Amino acid sequence: MTLLDLLSDGQVYEMLLVTRTNVTPVGVVKREKALSFKLFGGRSAEELVKWPHAALQATNDVGLIVRLALNIPLDSELPFEESGPYRWIKGLPGVYGDVGCTRKAHSDSLGTTEILSCSLFPKADIPGLLPPRPFSRADCALVEMAIDFTRLGIAVNSPPDEAKRLFSKIKKNYALFSRLGGKDKMGRKIMERALEIASKLGLTEELE
Ligand SMILES: Cc1cc2nc3c(=O)[nH]c(=O)nc-3n(C[C@H](O)[C@H](O)[C@H](O)COP(=O)(O)O)c2cc1C
Repeated sequence: MTLLDLLSDGQVYEMLLVTRTNVTPVGVVKREKALSFKLFGGRSAEELVKWPHAALQATNDVGLIVRLALNIPLDSELPFEESGPYRWIKGLPGVYGDVGCTRKAHSDSLGTTEILSCSLFPKADIPGLLPPRPFSRADCALVEMAIDFTRLGIAVNSPPDEAKRLFSKIKKNYALFSRLGGKDKMGRKIMERALEIASKLGLTEELE
């Protein structure tokens, strides 16, 4: 059974997107034989426009996902392998192939922006095995914190209600993460950075 067979059509999976020189987490949806994802700017988007070849890989290491999203240095460098124009992280199951992207308007609670809507057409499977780490709700809370934190960085330029909502969600998920025994240092780091942003926006007093 290949990775593609394990994905339900239409469901979003968090995977690692490996481009020419970058790795970042993205939300991926299987649509027939392609894997679709959206890029809201950033280095991967710039690279894919110039070099439309990439890999999408699975991991159950939430610490890795969060560090890559926030560009925090990793304890040890990731091992890469390559073949022709394709590059991937050694040992993580996934697929590589060519990518087609189109620019599209995207509207959400942060306003309207132009995004890159992309589809990867799998050419080959990447072999790999994930460690038998059981599912943990503390990991879910940490991922939610990281997603809301990246959005909080953008929300600083929007009306304060959205930043307030995101900051309040980060606080709730940090409380859940701590209650469930989450130990990854990124939990505290995100909470501290979110607090700095919130106090600059004058949101902290309102929430205490
Ligand atoms: C779990 C998770 C999923 C993410 N999914 C996406 C995504 O689908 N598209 C996107 O543009 N950014 C996504 N992000 C945010 C990017 O990882 C982050 O903005 C990154 O800094 C931009 O990537 P770059 O390295 O290409 O500049 C996600 C972050 C997390 C924590």
